[in-house]
Amino acid sequence: MYDEIKRLKKEKDIVILSHYYVDGEVQKVSDYVGDSYYLAKIAREVNQKTILFSGVCFMAESAKILNPEKRVLIPDALATCPMAHMGSVENIQKMRKEIQDLAVVCYINSTAELKAHCDVCVTSSNGAKIVKNLPQKNIYFTPDAHLGRYIASLVSEKNFYFNDGYCPVHQDITRGDVENLKRQYPKALVLAHPECSLSVLKLADYVGSTSGIIDYASNSSIEEMIICTEIGVFYELERRNPHKKFHKVISNQICIDMKKITIEKVLESLKDEKIEVEVSEELRNQALIPLNLMMELA
Ligand code: 13P
Ligand code: SF4
Repeated sequence: MYDEIKRLKKEKDIVILSHYYVDGEVQKVSDYVGDSYYLAKIAREVNQKTILFSGVCFMAESAKILNPEKRVLIPDALATCPMAHMGSVENIQKMRKEIQDLAVVCYINSTAELKAHCDVCVTSSNGAKIVKNLPQKNIYFTPDAHLGRYIASLVSEKNFYFNDGYCPVHQDITRGDVENLKRQYPKALVLAHPECSLSVLKLADYVGSTSGIIDYASNSSIEEMIICTEIGVFYELERRNPHKKFHKVISNQICIDMKKITIEKVLESLKDEKIEVEVSEELRNQALIPLNLMMELA
């Protein structure tokens, strides 16, 4: 299967971009693997006219919005991030009416419709930097309350309001789970994604995006780590650090939507050149504004 994927990529001039949460075997056949910000950036830089996006829908949709002249394919259109649907346009409109001097900041894990009503997008790797540089004093952060609260802890000069969305995968990791594991492996560092609750982040030696976690673990002289994020990162962690020991916190640290992108579906997608991501021109033009501002400020 690997050889066929390689042959089809070359023959059809298709580039494969993958997120660190998809299966290792999909990461293995990819041309670029990274966190959400890196993938949005690289989608603009690649020369190929067709991008096959191995990730959830909002990622492929963002790639299409940023690159309307390119064709973007997703192997399974039902791979959607539940948190992306937890924000509401009505709440944004209500906040805009009630709060003066307000910036609506939207995590990139959101639908194109939600982005279209926001001022700027952020990812887990650039959120604090971007929010610090906004001229508004008040921030409404949507959809993820945990990432919002983490950014607020780093940007004390602003007033924050939060939507109450969350990532089910990171929400399930509790402070008690991490404490238990710390007792079992006292020498291990705790590395956590900011989609975890603040009570988990308080126990962490490092907080960052998927790429941040992988880089930190790889550059550290410590040999053992507790990883508070989705299990897909273990592929790259173990590939780069075969002698280090990585512990997951709970058994179901798994994003079922990311896992819908199987190697079989990647092959099918290459063969049939489907499923093409479509975004209407009107929606694209509106959602492009906060995405472009993110690229500028990041
Ligand atoms: P990053 O890879 O940007 O850290 O995002 C994590 C995530 O949940 C993507 O769905
Ligand atoms: Fe969404 Fe969480 Fe899956 Fe990321 S890990 S795609 S935030 S459900």
